[in-house]
Amino acid sequence: MKDRMKEATQARRIVRDAGIILLERHRARDLGTIEHKDSVTDLVTSVDREIEALILTKLRQAFPGDAILSEERGQIGDNGARLWILDPLDGTKNFVHALDCFAISLALVVDGIRELGIVFAPALGKEFWAVRGEGAWLGEQPIRVSQTDSMEEALFSTGFACLRSGRSPNNLSVLPRVLRIAADIRRHGSAALDLCYVAYGRTDGFWELGLSPWDVAAGSLIAEEAGGQVTDFHGKDDFLYGRNLVTTNGRLHEPLLGEITRGLAKS
Ligand code: IPD
Ligand code: CA
Ligand code: CA
Repeated sequence: MKDRMKEATQARRIVRDAGIILLERHRARDLGTIEHKDSVTDLVTSVDREIEALILTKLRQAFPGDAILSEERGQIGDNGARLWILDPLDGTKNFVHALDCFAISLALVVDGIRELGIVFAPALGKEFWAVRGEGAWLGEQPIRVSQTDSMEEALFSTGFACLRSGRSPNNLSVLPRVLRIAADIRRHGSAALDLCYVAYGRTDGFWELGLSPWDVAAGSLIAEEAGGQVTDFHGKDDFLYGRNLVTTNGRLHEPLLGEITRGLAKS
């Protein structure tokens, strides 16, 4: 475990150094070019690519021989025991619109198990991180999920990647159900931070359809290490590549999962 903590320290430094550049681009409103990927609403900027290139270089220097799966570059290196999963800029649309809710998300997966995760939001000054079995942290402060145990008091967040991909059924048949019974819902625009807000006890749950491994690899470990529950929509653990994820403080998992299931069944 000592070695894993050492790896976490090295990875945190790589992410923080890249976050300083990202913050400079944000403050200077220096977006570079903006391209549309699969759909008109799926954006990527040259800053996404710049931060990705910076982190890939540093990861390959620090951890030679490890494979990397990164959002814009795809898989680098062969499928071996060790895989880094990177979203260089989660919340690109927020970044383009000068909103502060965006983050770098980096996770290490060893033999298919998420071992460490870092979500750094430079404009918010928040670095969430976790090492499996060592708890979840905001900087050097330990964090835990909320104790909320009623849907009526719960604050949830969600997202709409599913709409980009034209999926059906989709979140539009779930959202009204949860809105009617929960205290309220937030749409932050960064799935990695959505997961961390559950870990931090600021929201009580998050769900989304159509996510990618780089959106969830780090934040899902941080939520679990903070005492949260993370599953796919069948209550199982196929959420890293399965595209559908729900996380809660544990107390609300069954009722929220029930509303998701009923909403998708009725659509
Ligand atoms: C997106 C954000 C958004 C979520 C989308 C993701 P990106 O990531 O996390 O909140 O709803 O599913 O694709 O494109 O900004 O890296
Ligand atoms: Ca993302
Ligand atoms: Ca991204």
